[in-house]
Amino acid sequence: MSTLYAVSDLHVSYAENRRIVDDLQPSSPGDWLIVAGDVGELLGSVEATLRLLRERFAKVIWAPGNHELWTHGDDPVQLRGVRRYDRLVEMCREIDVLTPEDEYAVWRGEGGPAAVAPLFLLYDYSFRAPGTTTKEESLAYAYRTGVVCTDEQLLHPDPYPDRESWCWDRVERTERRLSAIDPALRTVLVSHWPLHRHPTEVLWYPEFAQWCGTERTADWHLRFRATAAVYGHLHIPRTTWQDGVRFEEVSLGYPREWRGRPAAPALPKRILG
Ligand SMILES: [Fe+2]
Ligand SMILES: [Fe+2]
Repeated sequence: MSTLYAVSDLHVSYAENRRIVDDLQPSSPGDWLIVAGDVGELLGSVEATLRLLRERFAKVIWAPGNHELWTHGDDPVQLRGVRRYDRLVEMCREIDVLTPEDEYAVWRGEGGPAAVAPLFLLYDYSFRAPGTTTKEESLAYAYRTGVVCTDEQLLHPDPYPDRESWCWDRVERTERRLSAIDPALRTVLVSHWPLHRHPTEVLWYPEFAQWCGTERTADWHLRFRATAAVYGHLHIPRTTWQDGVRFEEVSLGYPREWRGRPAAPALPKRILG
């Protein structure tokens, strides 16, 4: 019996996280693995990690996180924005890992059939900080409290003028792709950033939510028949329900976060099967 598993936020620049990745194993030879972004910052280490996982799992399905999209000073690959994303997609294709640019694979094991759709959508600052009504106010609030996502320095939107324009273009393209899925099929929607705002309501710093998604996808779990919506980014692993749809946060997160928890990280997380 095969299982569709998911994991995100492996952040392999930390040695303790690399040890956990070394222990990530399928339970049977037909298992699939979703990797929902934030493998790491350096293209070479993202590739090495995905390659290792692909050797173990029958299928690996990747969606980018913000960290893969950073142009980090330590990375010999200094591509920015869309060119960086395109290079990541090309690299995945070389190692037989599915990306948001590929045809959606259909899970036919238990809990299926379901089209497994990795999505690259980014965010548009519409999950605004408390008491603010525009992007400018929301960002100003974050700069006042000092809770500002590093994306502001390292995630370049080139050739778009800003990250929200890139996000809106991704939302439009992705909407067309999802609308073309056979309406008889359920879906597993996979995005590094949650499709719906509700998971961000427990953030310790609510102003961080503006880097976590877009209101434009608020009904996608219903519109596109999701049996599960898989995400990461928040580093708050848990299961929630929205309109009867299961939302699964599947992150590992930073060692300083998971070390303090009573139980060791239970990864990968079972999604179907
Ligand atoms: Fe992360
Ligand atoms: Fe992230």
